[in-house]
Amino acid sequence: MRKQIAAANWKMNLSFQQADQLLNSVVDAGIATKENQQVIFAVPFLYLSIANQLIGTVKNFNAASQNCYQKKEGAFTGEISAAMLHSMNISYCLVGHSERREYFNESNEILSEKIDRCLENDLTPIFCCGESLTIRAADQQKTFVETQLRDSLFHLSKEQITNLVIAYEPIWAIGTGKTATTIQVQEMHAHIRSVISNQYGTDTGDKISILYGGSVKASNAKELFNCDDVDGGLVGGASLQAEEFIQIIKALKC
Ligand code: PGA
Repeated sequence: MRKQIAAANWKMNLSFQQADQLLNSVVDAGIATKENQQVIFAVPFLYLSIANQLIGTVKNFNAASQNCYQKKEGAFTGEISAAMLHSMNISYCLVGHSERREYFNESNEILSEKIDRCLENDLTPIFCCGESLTIRAADQQKTFVETQLRDSLFHLSKEQITNLVIAYEPIWAIGTGKTATTIQVQEMHAHIRSVISNQYGTDTGDKISILYGGSVKASNAKELFNCDDVDGGLVGGASLQAEEFIQIIKALKC
């Protein structure tokens, strides 16, 4: 059974005190996760250490970085390397969120380097892909997402790509309150899985968890997560409220 994952993406939100409170509230809920379930908190770099302390002892809870730099080390003031994250016992890293692509000009090529840095340092990349509204309106979304996957991931070996999580996040659904329909979501997730399967074999395609992101809330999580090829969600806004996120975790498939 594929890993079922509820991943919070806090983006650039919350004070240190609010972060501490939110993590404590989710931990205090005492959610009993199943063996194949993972709960991930992608917090700002500054809070990784406290997140690890607060959730470190909770089974299947992990802290994640929202980004890392594509170079191994050196004179890159203000950047954080995958090796640094690994040295702080971080095990997941978001790669290629649409906000990184748009505001920080992260190309498919740069993202392919980031993927390599993560894998070299035992970090599981959560690779984000997804189309804009213009691309969807032109019915080009499948080709667009396939190119994102191809350009950033297809240099990997079969073993390497198995150590990866994919998040499909249509840009038009992020932070807009406009969720993709379950038909649109299932169709794209099945497409992503078939693209991976065609390149690496069905056994590999079947192993990779594919998360949906874009206005996931407590009220729609169950319906979305129940789609055959959806293995959980990457959650922005709703992950900033303890009760919402707790319900989203509870909506994961067994
Ligand atoms: P949202 O963000 O849940 O606020 O739409 C999702 C994301 O950007 O990962």
